[in-house]
Order: sequence, then C-alpha cells, then structure tokens
Amino acid sequence: MAILKIARMGHSVLARPAAPVEDVKAAEIQRLVDDMIETMEDAGGAGLAAPQVHIPLRIVIFHAPPSRNDGAPVPLTVLINPVVQPLDDRMQVGYEGCLSLPGLTGAVPRYHNVRYSGLDRHGEMVERVAEGFHARVVQHECDHLDGVLYPSRMDDLSTFGFVEEVRRAMMEQKE
Ligand code: NI
Repeated sequence: MAILKIARMGHSVLARPAAPVEDVKAAEIQRLVDDMIETMEDAGGAGLAAPQVHIPLRIVIFHAPPSRNDGAPVPLTVLINPVVQPLDDRMQVGYEGCLSLPGLTGAVPRYHNVRYSGLDRHGEMVERVAEGFHARVVQHECDHLDGVLYPSRMDDLSTFGFVEEVRRAMMEQKE
C-alpha cells in the first residue's frame, strides 16, 4: 500500500473524462483501490476519485461518520464504473470541500435524493438510494469522473473561499 500524490485543481487529469475499468479484478486495479483508501484516510477526506491520484479511471471511494450524515454512517464504499441518477428535482445547498482544492470550501447545490449503482472491488453490483450528505458525496466524487470540480456546480461564488475565512464570516453573520 502507498499514499499517493493528490492532483490539485488546474491539473489536466482533473478536467477530462475518465475511462471505464475493464477488468475490476486485475491486480493493478486492486492495488489502486488499496492505495486510494490509504490516501483518503491519510488526507482525512470523505471521498476520493481515481483522477485525483492521477489515474484517469472510473473509480470512486467514499465514507462518512454518523455525525456527518444525520446519524447514519456511510460505510466505506468502493464504486467502479458508477452511475448516479436523481430520484426527483429536489435540490439542497451545502458546503463542500475537495482534497484537490485544499483549504477551500463553497456552497454547492446537489440533488437531495439519488440512486446509484456500480461494481464493488470484487465485481459485484452495488445499488443504493441515498439522501443528504450521502447523496452529496456520491455526486461530488462521480463528478470527478467527468472532469467536473465543485466550483463549476456553484451558483453563488460569493460563498467560495478559504475554510477559516468562510467560517469566520458565518460566525460574524450570526452575531
Ligand atoms: Ni473532490
């Protein structure tokens, strides 16, 4: 296992569509999944997509503790060649961060309810419905596979900034 270098916004690998994985069980895919998990844990993120570690393949991983998902933990999930579909038109705006934009955050509208599917690392089909933060993290990670970073999903760029500054501005607003 190895901790991989994470590409930052502006790198071309983050701006182009990734290719489907043909052989999920191939040794190099299994090693990549292991390395992605180790890299995500080291960096402290909720999710990671293969293009973020300079590999343009359609693989995402994500997880969340109960505190981030209304009390329901999102288990560590590996999704290969994923498909995400909104279940209705309802959108929810929430702050996101990304390991490829270190230190930054912004408010992003996402579908509140989605269905997603894909293969796990053993080649078995995974199909789930998700809402809230769980749905948000899936949409964010799968966007990486199409070369889309969260700032281009934002509809109010005044909410975009460095985490400490955005947090301070929110505190000031509450006072
Ligand atoms: Ni990201």
